[in-house]
This record gives sequence, C-alpha cells and structure tokens, in this order.
Amino acid sequence: MNAAPCSPFAQDQKTPSQIRLSPNRLAVVSFRDQEFAPTPGTKLCRLEDIPIGRGKEIVLGESSGRWPFRMFVVRSEESVWGYANACPHLHIPLDLSPDRFVSADGAFIQCANHGALFQLDDGYCVSGPCGGESLTQIPVDVKDGAIVAK
Ligand code: FES
Repeated sequence: MNAAPCSPFAQDQKTPSQIRLSPNRLAVVSFRDQEFAPTPGTKLCRLEDIPIGRGKEIVLGESSGRWPFRMFVVRSEESVWGYANACPHLHIPLDLSPDRFVSADGAFIQCANHGALFQLDDGYCVSGPCGGESLTQIPVDVKDGAIVAK
C-alpha cells in the first residue's frame, strides 16, 4: 500500500465536533482541542493490525484516570480513514462489540446502536437517525507500515 493521503482534510485544518458538557448542553470544539487527541505524527497502530474492510478502535489517555480520547480507523484495500468514535446521533461509541465499525459488506461504517451508515471516505451519514450529519474526521496517514495522525 502506498503512503498516499488518506483524508481530504489538510494537515492544519480543524474539524469541529461536539462534546457534551451536561445532559442538555453541547459545545462545538475542534477535536484537536480535546485532551489526549492525537497530535500530528502520533503512531496509532500498525497497518497490519487492521484487516482490509475492517476497523480498529484507538483509545488515547486511557490510563490517565481522566476522560480518554476514543477514535477508530477503518481500512479498505487502497486507503485508511480515522474518525472520532462518537455517533453524531447520540454521541456514544459506534461499536457495541470491540472493533466492529464496518457493515457486513465492508462498504460503509456502521453504528451498531441504531444502524446508521456512513461513507468510508468522508464519514457522511447516508442512512439512519443521523442522516445528513457526519462523523468527525481524524486525519491519518500511513508511514513505514504504521497508521499515524496527520
Ligand atoms: S447512536 Fe448511532 S445510530 Fe443512534
């Protein structure tokens, strides 16, 4: 696999996401402003850790005793993409079973909670309760056999 760009986002572009401040208050922030978000160059996992057509969760800051940063990476034959592990519908993790992020046919990211389907390459929801919304992209790249944050 080539180390071609894996995301349409430029390296310095910030992607907004929502964080829940309380049951009734959401704040829009960049994922880069969140504690434990990967900085450019952070090694996330080895490419070979993810079979083609599957995904893998990455949790950063888990041992801190504070709120960790949860993201996942999905892989096709040609590319890899990273997203925050939070469904735009209820802002909860997409995988009910560990690392189950992709539909059975491998064509979409799928939220296991209520079945929403998202495009692999941009996280846009094409079906489900969050139709028209998007996952928060975490730009990633492949370098020396590792998936790294951009
Ligand atoms: S929580 Fe993801 S589709 Fe409802």
